[in-house]
Order: sequence, then C-alpha cells, then structure tokens
Amino acid sequence: TFCTAIVLAAGSGKRMGTKIAKQYLEIDGKPLLYYTLLAFERSPQIDKIILTVGSEEQISYCQETILRPYGFQKVASVITGGKERYDSVWRGLQAVRNDLPKEAAEGIVFIHDGARPMVSEDILERCFQDAQKYHACVAAVPVKDTIKIADENGFAETTPRRDRVWQVQTPQTFSFGLIYDAYARLAEQKDALAEKGIQITDDAMVVETFTDHPVKLTEGSYRNLKVTTPEDLPLAEKYLHS
Ligand code: CTP
Ligand code: MG
Repeated sequence: TFCTAIVLAAGSGKRMGTKIAKQYLEIDGKPLLYYTLLAFERSPQIDKIILTVGSEEQISYCQETILRPYGFQKVASVITGGKERYDSVWRGLQAVRNDLPKEAAEGIVFIHDGARPMVSEDILERCFQDAQKYHACVAAVPVKDTIKIADENGFAETTPRRDRVWQVQTPQTFSFGLIYDAYARLAEQKDALAEKGIQITDDAMVVETFTDHPVKLTEGSYRNLKVTTPEDLPLAEKYLHS
C-alpha cells in the first residue's frame, strides 16, 4: 500500500507566543520540525511526504536549513498551507492527488501535526494497521483528568464518564479517497459551518461530519504531545533526548 504523510507546519503558534513559529524553535540546534520529519523519513511504512508551511519564505527556509542539509529523500513537495488547519490539510490532499504518482491516491494518507515531534515508529505501525483495517483511525490516549462540559458562564454542566473520554492526537490516518471526499465536502460547506459556529479542529471530525464512516481510536502515546504552550518545551526536550 502506498503511504503518504502530510506534515502540517503552516500555523503561527499563537498559544506559544514566540516570535518564530513553534515548529521552528530549536532543540539541540535543530528545529522541532526536523524531528517530526525524521520520524516519517525513517519509517519503512512511509513512501512520500508532503510538507505544508506558512509562506513562500518558509518553503526556502525548510529546503535550505532542514531538507537539503540533512538529506531528506521522501519529501516530494513543500507547499504553502492556508488560514486554518483544515485549509492546510485540504491543500495537502490536493498535492497528493496532483504531485504524486497515481498509486498515492489509491493508498493511505497519514495527516500529522508538525508540532508533534515525538511520534514513534510504534505509533506509525499501529496507525498503518488500523488504517488498512478500518480506513479511518486516529491516535488517541485515555484522558487522565476528569473532563467537564461547561455552560457559557463557566459553570460545570455535565461530566462525561471518564472511561469514554479520549485525548486525540495525530497521526490521523485514512484511505485517501475517503478523506479526500470528506474534505471536498467541507470545502463546499465551510461557510455554512462557520455560520453555525462549528469549529473543525481535527481530521476525524471532517469524516464524522460529512460521512457515516466510523473512525477507530488507535493507541497513541502520552509522549506524543503537541508542542502548544511554553510549558510543553522542556518536556519535549527531555523526550527527544531519551
Ligand atoms: N497548522 C497548519 N495550518 C494552519 C494552522 C495550523 O498547518 N492554518 C499546523 C500547525 O503548524 C501545527 C498543527 O497544524 O503543526 C497543529 O496546530 P496547532 O497546534 O493549533 O498550531 P498553531 O495553529 O500554529 O498554534 P495556535 O493554535 O496556538 O496558534
Ligand atoms: Mg491552531
């Protein structure tokens, strides 16, 4: 099965609040995005990588400081993303269709946050297995804290039973046709969703909203964190060292 990874690095990192976007912050002299790309470059599961970045300048930055010096072979194209994460994913999916051999559109696509550098080969392997079996799966871990649903005034409204609540990560992995068609519908209907105040925050949600295909929760890892706020950085550094 032909496997493509779309690695997303087009965000601006508002919650991190640093001047340079978080995916370019360095650990041991290398940008976070380097570690993320390396996991896919080294994985025997992955055939090609599409990298989505924030601007034309970032395209040359990535080519000159990451892809060329470290000899990445699998990165087939570097493209610019869009305003929202789902815009970046949609552009990535179109690049899979337009820039890659025809087998890519008959295979599996791993959609992964560039800001999740600790993704392991074990996770990629489990995602591949479940994507083959179920056509749609997302890495996830059980929540450790109790989760509350709040009302609009910040008071606890309900408490879902903890054994049914999962924290969702990436990779989110799909048969290409399934995710492409779901995103094509989102592209047609995103204004209507925005009017209703519905925010699309992951890829599974696109499948849940626009298809009736079930999405499997695949075992992720607590280490596979997304670097989001400043407190995540020392932890990421520690994990990348070990
Ligand atoms: N991303 C993207 N295109 C966007 C927004 C996000 O490719 N328009 C990517 C980010 O670069 C990141 C991943 O999607 O690797 C997960 O998004 P998130 O953690 O929300 O990153 P940011 O949007 O950059 O951060 P923030 O929400 O704090 O601004
Ligand atoms: Mg964001």
